[in-house]
Amino acid sequence: RTNGLRQIKVSDDDFGLMGYDPAFLNTANCKSAITFIDGDKGILEYRGYPIEQLAERSSFLEVSYLLLNGELPTEKQLEEFRYLVTHHTYVHENIKTFMDGFRYDAHPMSMLSSTVAALSGFYPDAKHTKDERSRRIQMTRLIAKMPTLAAFSYRHSMGLPYVYPDNDLSYVGNFLAMVRKIGTTTYKVHPTLEKALDVLFILHADHEQNCSTTSVRTVGSSEVDPFSAVASGIAALYGPLHGGANEAVLRMLREIGHVSKVPEFIKQVKGGEGGSKLMGFGHRVYKSYDPRAKVIKRVADEVFEVTGKNPLLEIAVELERIALQDEYFVKRKLYPNVDFYSGLIYEAMGFPVEMFPVLFAIPRTVGWVTQWEEMVKDPEQKIARPRQVYTGSKRRDYVPMNARA
Ligand code: ACO
Repeated sequence: RTNGLRQIKVSDDDFGLMGYDPAFLNTANCKSAITFIDGDKGILEYRGYPIEQLAERSSFLEVSYLLLNGELPTEKQLEEFRYLVTHHTYVHENIKTFMDGFRYDAHPMSMLSSTVAALSGFYPDAKHTKDERSRRIQMTRLIAKMPTLAAFSYRHSMGLPYVYPDNDLSYVGNFLAMVRKIGTTTYKVHPTLEKALDVLFILHADHEQNCSTTSVRTVGSSEVDPFSAVASGIAALYGPLHGGANEAVLRMLREIGHVSKVPEFIKQVKGGEGGSKLMGFGHRVYKSYDPRAKVIKRVADEVFEVTGKNPLLEIAVELERIALQDEYFVKRKLYPNVDFYSGLIYEAMGFPVEMFPVLFAIPRTVGWVTQWEEMVKDPEQKIARPRQVYTGSKRRDYVPMNARA
């Protein structure tokens, strides 16, 4: 296929026209009807609905239904979907044994990616990727089990016993209870914090062809099962330039330590000292304020009213204020992204920094499986196999060991 470009092939040895586009800056990898982004205008829409409206008026499970099915659900459809997700939250007991094998200080993202990959061994029927019914069961399993595995990874890293899902609670409420519950007392989830996390989950549910989604599509294009494909997405999200950024923001704010040190830090970033970057700033697609960051700022105020102010907030606000007036950042169109304030909220809610990317992976699972299914159903998609521009040696003959210099 020439993808609309005229194929130029001067001889049999010539592979024809090929684009060189490292990191896919200008290459569309697929056609997609799921998420729309206008990076210059700061617009994000799921299935055509603006993110601001969904964050204000919808719920995470409703948004999940929308992403998966293309339309908002009726009351009955939402109830059925909620029932389905709620009744797939349990994991096989051996997954607990698997989790127990990790060192006490293993990063929860490493536990999450491996246990999700391991699920393919528990559900061998997941290999039937062409079968819609089978696909939908695996997708539901992934969405439903992700909070359980995420909570288990947290409990393991804290040396606490695992807490089983309570299917009478909401999706977010159940997750918070599995994380927080101590002993036999019922954990009462604060409604403001439950709502705040639900909104954060909506904001993180999908973001078109980001690094982790591209991994899921690429790995999934080999027709492997969705558990293996999603595990690759979690691995990509683990990286500090992607889902690890909110963890890096918190570490950065702690390193700065005081609001008076902000100008000095900005100077250091601009000087490129030690390759430092202003974490939580800049985005491959958004060249204006990330619309998710705007919503998160509002959520942060509501959360801090319950939890008390995070002392690092003052440093973050000052960083933003100075950076938005600084020529270096203005010229490069570097604005706060989704990760700049989310970490502060997670910390205020009592999560350690290692859990931040995990809190990203739970809702993004909906985006990953939706994008995966779209790819599986797309007749134009083949196994992902990019080309390269070879820069190595010309053909040469093997040199025996004793003849080498
Ligand atoms: N701080 C300082 N300078 C920056 C930053 C930053 N956060 N981000 C980009 N720049 C500079 C680059 O050094 C480069 O400068 P130059 O033109 O003088 O060389 C210029 O801005 C363009 O940056 P690129 O690296 O080309 O931008 P790219 O699109 O490749 O990277 C990325 C985007 C990875 C998000 C980058 O902005 C970054 O590393 N930000 C910090 C990490 C972060 O917050 N990641 C979360 C992203 S959102 C998400 O994954 C959910």
